[in-house]
Amino acid sequence: MHPLPAADAPAHIHWTEDGVERSARWRSESGMPAPKKVVIADDQTPADLAYRLACEGTALLWRGDFQNARQLLQALARRADHKGGKADKGRRGKPARVPSSPAEAFHLHRQAQSQRARTLAMLLIPFDADYRIPLRRAPDVALACNEAYGRGETPFVASLRELLGLIGAHEWRRNGVPIAALGEKIHPHYGVFSPIRGEYLELVANAPLPPGAKVAFDIGTGTGVLAALLARRGLAHIVATDLDPRALSCARENLQRLQLDQHVELMKADLFPERRADLVVCNPPWLPGRPSSSIEYAIYDPDSRMLRGFLSRVAAHLAPGGEAWLILSDLAEHLGLRPRSDLDAWIAAGGLQLIERHDVRPVHPRASDPSDPLHAARSAELTSLWRLRAL
Ligand SMILES: C[S@@+](CC[C@H](N)C(=O)[O-])C[C@H]1O[C@@H](n2cnc3c(N)ncnc32)[C@H](O)[C@@H]1O
Repeated sequence: MHPLPAADAPAHIHWTEDGVERSARWRSESGMPAPKKVVIADDQTPADLAYRLACEGTALLWRGDFQNARQLLQALARRADHKGGKADKGRRGKPARVPSSPAEAFHLHRQAQSQRARTLAMLLIPFDADYRIPLRRAPDVALACNEAYGRGETPFVASLRELLGLIGAHEWRRNGVPIAALGEKIHPHYGVFSPIRGEYLELVANAPLPPGAKVAFDIGTGTGVLAALLARRGLAHIVATDLDPRALSCARENLQRLQLDQHVELMKADLFPERRADLVVCNPPWLPGRPSSSIEYAIYDPDSRMLRGFLSRVAAHLAPGGEAWLILSDLAEHLGLRPRSDLDAWIAAGGLQLIERHDVRPVHPRASDPSDPLHAARSAELTSLWRLRAL
């Protein structure tokens, strides 16, 4: 996790209940600021009123039945998606802005997504210090909260949407993601990039290894999936780095479960260890852009920092005859966010030369969904493994 800049003291929310001024600690893993205005809501609160308040930035602290809060959240999501509720009457009929370029379409799409996230985060749930939720029909979420937040210490308030994300992450962690190229599962932790798109893994599983390769680096290891693949392919020693402590502990757990931990050394490092390797693999976030929450750091690479850092420094970490494997989709190019010429220039400036590129078309459902606002770019997307060597 890459924490967004936070104030020193934990944030608090304040509200008035039964004529008494109250406050509670605010918690948001996605870095959402504490709502300034909070009112009490319960089973009697109409969805249209709740939606109007949420759109205005007024948070609703839930005192009713937990399952009813879930239903209200669904009702809010329907209103946010269709903008069809009574509360939206004033905005109906306004012509949608037609984007003038793929980059603008992407920008508008992100803007709409973050507006939706802000609105839906306005429904708040109270937690006791031990992660018990003091509401009727509330589930036991202690394990899911422990996994994401660590040990509970003080009561707090968080958004129901965040809690549902934590529960979803807990399920993924428990059930695991099947990795065809490994023939086993990888168990992602909360906030760690999940290898659900299998095609880039197939590229790493099938590209020819440099002859005699023994030592490899996996730069930005996340769940440890690429380190595991390389170990299965016979690399004797792999150094896997990440900056995110959650990724490192997730990778440790996965590699132990797969009994590959004796081949993989995990290290907290900004990109490279101070050594050289026969093979250096990196799958940086594929889109340049500012993450709008801390968990988006695995998707967005601000100003292509990780990509540029990798390409400018990898040649100095390659043993003679060694190869750098860069895994990157060209979605950013189709969205007009980064021209191919930038990538070519960074490869050349890093003293690197292309040996061969292996391409694959994504098979995930959104790639073929014409109703997706980014369909044109997604349907043209290619994911590539760039085999590079030092000049
Ligand atoms: C897109 S994820 C890829 C994870 C994994 N290698 C995979 O293919 O599933 C990128 C990873 O790089 C890590 N990362 C970002 N910047 C880094 C840096 N400067 N040094 C090391 N790791 C970094 C992130 O924490 C994240 O785990």
